[in-house]
Amino acid sequence: MARSALLNVMVDAVRKAARSLIRDFGEVENLQVSMKSPGDFVSAADKRAEKILLDELKRARPGFGFLMEESGVIEGDDPQHRWIIDPLDGTTNFLHGIPIFAISVALERQGQIVAGVVYNPIMDELYVAERGGGAFVNDRRLRVAARRDLIECVVGTGVPHVGRGDHSAYLAELRAIMNETAGVRRCGAAAIDLCWVASGRFDAFWERYLHPWDMAAGLLIIREAGGFVSDADGGDAMFASGSVLAGNEDIHRKVLAVLKKARG
Ligand code: IPD
Ligand code: CA
Ligand code: CA
Ligand code: CA
Repeated sequence: MARSALLNVMVDAVRKAARSLIRDFGEVENLQVSMKSPGDFVSAADKRAEKILLDELKRARPGFGFLMEESGVIEGDDPQHRWIIDPLDGTTNFLHGIPIFAISVALERQGQIVAGVVYNPIMDELYVAERGGGAFVNDRRLRVAARRDLIECVVGTGVPHVGRGDHSAYLAELRAIMNETAGVRRCGAAAIDLCWVASGRFDAFWERYLHPWDMAAGLLIIREAGGFVSDADGGDAMFASGSVLAGNEDIHRKVLAVLKKARG
């Protein structure tokens, strides 16, 4: 697959940040860690990776703005473009030595995501997409799963952590999905979950209480893999609501119906 200059810039920055994450993952017990809120941690690894992404992307495209998990908003001179960045998606996994985490970088142009990169350095899986150009993992074209019967489906989810969201409403959704599908998985890194829908490993995924940086790149990657995405209530307010539901068109509709019924 021929990558655009822009995608090359993103991939180079992500690979450089990934080398920093891998070094820190090897010495995770010595990392400085703090808790932003109950269940939400940030470590020196998150900050180092974010700094690399900021420096590299700024150097390549000086005018673009940023929305980053750890550093927040940095306005650019070019109001049309901003990077949406999660330097380490799956911090809790990372800090526990669980090798499921990723870097997620998306580019928004006039409010629309036009390019996305998610890299899982442990599995060496580089997911990329550009609007209208398809989605790829390590240069292999991605396509969402084709299953149509819910009972055959594996569905990914994210469990809201302590202090976040309405746990009983979530448990009602989880119970309903458990009753109607082949199985439920919880990876602990939303950007990877979304890419696994794009690749067909998961037939569907839903989660609430996310942030734009968890999902910006993944949403484009799923769409470019032929998948369907909405917020968890079927609308298109993914960023505003912090929720997401993804799958092929048929399974998306069926999971949405189960979630709606479960919420009453
Ligand atoms: C978290 C992960 C996790 C999801 C959380 C996110 P972080 O991101 O994506 O899977 O369940 O809601 O906050 O904090 O590790 O970047
Ligand atoms: Ca976090
Ligand atoms: Ca995240
Ligand atoms: Ca993060």
